[in-house]
Amino acid sequence: MAVNVVILAAGQGKRMQSALPKVLHSLAGAPLLAHVIAAARELKPARICVVYGHGGEQVPQALGAAGLTFVKQQPQLGTGDALKQALPHLDARKDTLVLYGDVPLIAAATLKALCAGSGERLRILTAELDDPRGYGRIVRNAKRAITAIVEEKDAGEKQRGIREINTGIMLLPGKRLGGWLGQLSNRNAQREYYLTDVVALALKDRVKIESSAPRDNWEILGVNSMQQLAQVERIHQAQTAVRLLEAGVALADPMRIDVRGSLICGRDVRIDVNCVFEGTVEIGDNAVIGANCVIRNAKIGAATRIEPFSMIDDAKIGKNCRVGPYARIRPGTRLAADVHIGNFVEVKASSVGAGSKANHLAYVGDTSIGRNVNVGAGTITCNYDGVNKHRTVIEDDVLIGSDVQLVAPVTVHAGATIGAGATITKDVPAGELTYTEMKQVVKRGWKRPLKIGKR
Ligand code: UD1
Ligand code: CA
Repeated sequence: MAVNVVILAAGQGKRMQSALPKVLHSLAGAPLLAHVIAAARELKPARICVVYGHGGEQVPQALGAAGLTFVKQQPQLGTGDALKQALPHLDARKDTLVLYGDVPLIAAATLKALCAGSGERLRILTAELDDPRGYGRIVRNAKRAITAIVEEKDAGEKQRGIREINTGIMLLPGKRLGGWLGQLSNRNAQREYYLTDVVALALKDRVKIESSAPRDNWEILGVNSMQQLAQVERIHQAQTAVRLLEAGVALADPMRIDVRGSLICGRDVRIDVNCVFEGTVEIGDNAVIGANCVIRNAKIGAATRIEPFSMIDDAKIGKNCRVGPYARIRPGTRLAADVHIGNFVEVKASSVGAGSKANHLAYVGDTSIGRNVNVGAGTITCNYDGVNKHRTVIEDDVLIGSDVQLVAPVTVHAGATIGAGATITKDVPAGELTYTEMKQVVKRGWKRPLKIGKR
């Protein structure tokens, strides 16, 4: 049965010590709130309503995706008041699931279990914690039935000893919701409208109160400080690593990989320590990623080796290539199969044909390189005249000596050889040797200058 989802996200998050609204802080490369929305979407809800407030329009601006309803709560008078703001946007025939924008690890499976079944009931997601401090406590009677949720600030000594806590996530019956929210009062320690007071209203109306637990307790961790954000990030990354290992990816150390987006690996992929993957990265069968690489929005072909300390951004690397160590592959780069890009080589907006190599200290920008080309050490495409960018074309089977400058726009035709140190400003003919003459001069009897004052 489809539910309404309301995500409460209007709170300030004072303890973050940040100007950014709390729910926009990033977890694995995406805002906290985006993780909650993703979990909610898996339920295929009737609608998703986000209650925002603190930080102004930044929240809807950052997440203004289709299919979300944003409702402003100003001022923030408590969780009960927050849900009330969403009420006019909900389908009253359906139950309403309340989520928190700052509880980002909540798993869809846990939510599905909470929403399972039918009939009119109030279902609360609770957890047993060793350290329940800061949470509302679940009060039960002798028959283990829930009789109240008591906020810590309102709790007595004995109630504070209860280890079962309110995660804040709950499912409320659609027909009762409006009536209950209208009856909440703010007569409590915090002068807030507590959503948790619906427990008393359910008892009064003889609506069944049930609880369920998350699969793992870390799912319900809230983010209130940078410390908690870092903790939640580590848990999230550890979970991602477990999934990669289960899928057969060989991680040198599951504690030392960061995936900020989606990483899709073929069979027998090996990833060494301290690699960061951002956006969407696809790695083909038998590829190897060396230590300390940063790879963003890229496709890496089968059996390719990315050697340590390489950075690849918005690029497509073919099969059986060797890239790095210390290579920088920038946006718009396409490497065909069997390409070698070596240390301190930067490639930008260029295509490199099969079997071509640039092994040492080169800049290749806005260039089309054919097949079986060898670019010598220190070679630079001079693609920028200070105003415009120009293209360089290097056809198949070209051999470029060391320290060559190719001043674009320029074409080097197939099979040409360019001698070391040449500055090429005109097109180079096919099959010939081209070099620029620089005479080697010997000045006989020349003396080095001496330090002044010395003889
Ligand atoms: C709430 C629960 C508590 C539970 C805890 C779990 C109530 C009264 N208490 O307490 O039982 O153990 O969460 O973390 O519900 N929010 C708004 N508008 C507001 C107030 C809050 O949108 O006016 C949002 C916050 O942004 C946050 C969530 O609601 O996402 C919870 O608010 P918070 O102030 O953290 O509630 P707690 O006092 O921790
Ligand atoms: Ca809280």
